[in-house]
Amino acid sequence: MTQFGVDLLWVPILASLGLSALAIFISMSRHRRQYSRAAASPGEDVASEAARKALREFEKNGQPVDAALVTWSPQTLRKILAEDLPDAQVIVVSNREPYIHNETKDGEIELVVPASGLVSALEPITRACAGTWIAYGGGSADRRTVDSDDRLQVPPARPSYTLRRVWLSEEEYQGYYLGFANEGLWPLCHIAFTRPIFRSADWDAYEAVNRKFAETVVAEARNERPIVLVQDYHFALLPRMIREHLPEAIIITFWHIPWPNSEVFSICPWRERILDGLLGSSIIGFHTQFHANNFMESVDRFMESRIERADAAISYGGQVTLVHAYPISIEWPDELLGGLPSVEECRVRIRSRFGIPADAKLCVGVERLDYIKGILDRFHALEELFDRAPDMIGKVVFLQIAAPSRGTLPAYKQLHDECLRLADDLNRRYGCEGYSPVVMVAEHHKQADVYELYRAADICLVTSLHDGMNLVAKEFVASRDDEQGVLLLSTFAGASRELLEALIVNPYDAAMMSEAMLQALAMEPGEQRERMRRMREIVRDNNVYRWAGSMLLDAARLRKRGDLDRVTASYDRAIDPAGDNVVSMFERKQAVGLR
Ligand code: G6P
Repeated sequence: MTQFGVDLLWVPILASLGLSALAIFISMSRHRRQYSRAAASPGEDVASEAARKALREFEKNGQPVDAALVTWSPQTLRKILAEDLPDAQVIVVSNREPYIHNETKDGEIELVVPASGLVSALEPITRACAGTWIAYGGGSADRRTVDSDDRLQVPPARPSYTLRRVWLSEEEYQGYYLGFANEGLWPLCHIAFTRPIFRSADWDAYEAVNRKFAETVVAEARNERPIVLVQDYHFALLPRMIREHLPEAIIITFWHIPWPNSEVFSICPWRERILDGLLGSSIIGFHTQFHANNFMESVDRFMESRIERADAAISYGGQVTLVHAYPISIEWPDELLGGLPSVEECRVRIRSRFGIPADAKLCVGVERLDYIKGILDRFHALEELFDRAPDMIGKVVFLQIAAPSRGTLPAYKQLHDECLRLADDLNRRYGCEGYSPVVMVAEHHKQADVYELYRAADICLVTSLHDGMNLVAKEFVASRDDEQGVLLLSTFAGASRELLEALIVNPYDAAMMSEAMLQALAMEPGEQRERMRRMREIVRDNNVYRWAGSMLLDAARLRKRGDLDRVTASYDRAIDPAGDNVVSMFERKQAVGLR
């Protein structure tokens, strides 16, 4: 067949497949390279013109959208899904479910929304995508509230997506969640100097539970090409397991916690298995570029792979995985704030609820009771503050809300006891009748109650020893529509890369923290306003829809290019059956500018 004949044959076929016009252009250019010996014919000009037109079309439609120029909302996500990923089914997988049903003492069913940054970020996204969320059903009344397929429609008040619960035995939960994930990977990835514990029985449970979730993903997939959003360190093996069954799925794995440097990571006895599992993903996301770089470095050190740093791509086992930073965020809380009392009223209410003197400055901390959060270090900073500035005794109260978390693990029990002991100690030394400098409440609080607390605060302390992002910092900023309040933020929390107007501190340095507290206590309303205004802009613009939307846009690009690969591969077979001149997939991906 002449070149003219081949080109004209393929153009309509490609076009009718609805594939990226660039596929046509690349196929043709390559074809021209291979058959350059053939004389130019009038037909070639016709084909080249078609290719150039195709390229212009791609440039118009297929160029990366600049996420910074888009206003991100649920509508934007729906638009991306409808236009760029038509018919794609979005499946979210996480350990923690967004709605937990518990049985009360009276046998009633109580609904709990867990205190988890991951849940608060993904919930609005799954709502917008009308997707399916697969998670461990850990509530005592969870089985009573699902249908015969273990599904229920949520949010309960206004159903918009499906929650599919997965059941785990006590042994599975112990080994996979408490053991490998929370005694192994959690301390491994967070540099908080708590020693990771690795047991092979935990690893076996981790692998078995990842397999169970993979089977559930396959069962829930309506076709061969879902978009699967795998969440966090509970599921490092899941991407590879899904890929084995659904080779055409787009799998985006988001690692919500830091990734350590390769030396620290090398402690893990199953490090290669973890990397191999994760590299089943199409895209792996981290909160910061720093953690993405650490991941690449670990792969480089332990896996036979090819790394294209400039493209943020890893080629491993014939597959390319992109490694990107996508800073997570919150949904701007217009609706929630609309239902809350004024800042003035919040101040009065919180002070009366917790017995805090009306004229005392209020510092707050809100988190899960976890050793990475630096709660004890905050207490030490307060002690330092009182030593340096005794006139502050009686004028400052520190209210710490700490939601109980992973409470059966020794490290967490110990932290709980130490926090209570140190709080008592400070209250004994610096308190008096009617004044306790530390109020520690180790209880779960609803989102609206937490926002009320933020609004009542003069200072919010987010002083984690290490944290992927930390959404409390962003929530605090979002809650302050009065543009007042000061944020003290750890330099080791991912949020410090964005919230530059916070007072950035090193939580290990009690003297520095106490100085920052003094600076915050004395800060003029004008300066507070300036800092707060800028931070609010950042959080409002870089909201959670941008986080998810950037990943979906990358997924759409991959899908187009995957289609392109399939077509060019069949085109190669048609024109070059012996494969003598086949350009490697990596080179072609580079040629089309795949990041
Ligand atoms: C925090 C982390 C998440 C993690 C979650 C688990 O929110 O940022 O990465 O998934 O904790 O908490 P849990 O209570 O479910 O163990």
